[in-house]
Amino acid sequence: MANFLQGKHIVLGVTGGIAAYKAAVLTRLLVKAGAEVQPVMTAAAKEFITPLTLSTLSGKPVISEFFTRNTGEWHSHVDLGLWADAMVVAPATACTIGKMAGGVADNMLVTTYLSAKAPVFVCPAMDLDMMAHPSTVANLRRLESYGNIIIDAAEGELASHLTGKGRMAEPEDIVKTLERYFRNAQCPSPLSGRKVMITAGPTREKIDPVRYISNYSTGKMGYALADELAARGADVIVVSGPVSVKPTQPGVKVVGVESALEMAEKSRELFPQCDVAVMCAAVADYRPAAPSATKIKREGNEPPQLQLVENPDIARSLGEMKQDDQLLVGFALETDHENENARKKMQRKKLDMVVLNSLRDAGAGFGTDTNKVTILTRKDNVSHEFPLKSKAEVAGDIADLIELLYCNE
Ligand code: CTP
Repeated sequence: MANFLQGKHIVLGVTGGIAAYKAAVLTRLLVKAGAEVQPVMTAAAKEFITPLTLSTLSGKPVISEFFTRNTGEWHSHVDLGLWADAMVVAPATACTIGKMAGGVADNMLVTTYLSAKAPVFVCPAMDLDMMAHPSTVANLRRLESYGNIIIDAAEGELASHLTGKGRMAEPEDIVKTLERYFRNAQCPSPLSGRKVMITAGPTREKIDPVRYISNYSTGKMGYALADELAARGADVIVVSGPVSVKPTQPGVKVVGVESALEMAEKSRELFPQCDVAVMCAAVADYRPAAPSATKIKREGNEPPQLQLVENPDIARSLGEMKQDDQLLVGFALETDHENENARKKMQRKKLDMVVLNSLRDAGAGFGTDTNKVTILTRKDNVSHEFPLKSKAEVAGDIADLIELLYCNE
């Protein structure tokens, strides 16, 4: 794959939070990817990591004052803003985010930000209460409204030993986001600006108010695909069953549903406005015919007999609605006669492409972070077989083929 960071000028703004130590790894990764990194540190950042570390890793003297004291050399934030192909603020503390949102240009970092013509990526990192405070939330929204890209903080253990949202995104993920940005800028995807709907996760079929029928789907594959397609510039909406995963790409919308009936209704409502729909959800094929309105009690009762009725086949109904300029992609989970069954499914549901998972392959299917797929398309008789990969990488392979089909439609 082409290296889209090669030769790129990155201004790395580092502010005073414990995650500043990760700026060293970020600098190293960016330099390794061929970028030129100019660190700009706030005074507080230097309490957490030394300028020597960042200047050594970047090969450039760190800038943090408006001029060098002993020589009087002026550091032009305007020149720096013009030099940059991207500015990354990592970590971005609540204080700096507030200053950026309000234009409080009292240090080199914020003046450079205000002068930057290039895209700005902001990687918040702070304690969970600060992160959740309405002022931080509003300031981040404001930065988004200025066109800045927020690389959201993750949940996990924080420096305070509390657990919650506030951990800076991992340097590897920040680099990936930058790579994607430059890739899209240099060779825009045919999916850029297209509307994509993805169904993801399991559905829950009520037995009574406290029990349900479901399956082991975690939604990881659907959300990986949502992130991948959003990173390629698509306008993505996920119709999602109950899952704990979240999209990591900014702009991915999620509509939560619970049952197959709800998922069917929402998907049918949204599909006519979509260019592409990907049916990733593990929809329960059956639901209890008459869920009990009250909790089914054990005492004095025989085990209940569950009468099941068929759920709608969402993919199939979208296949019926599909217009010539729409693409419909499905998944097929098979245990035997995989290719044959998947092709039949593609025909029956009028899919343009089917992503086949075989449960005979170790590391494929539900719950894992990896997947092994074979992709079949309606137009040709070719099976594109892929080795075991991370779900994020599989999402990339699926997206590549969707792009190809989309171009040839
Ligand atoms: N699908 C759907 N609605 C359903 C069942 C499946 O939209 N009620 C979609 C899935 O999201 C997937 C494709 O159809 O994209 C195939 O799902 P799969 O479970 O493999 O197939 P089924 O149609 O349920 O057939 P079978 O269980 O007999 O293999």
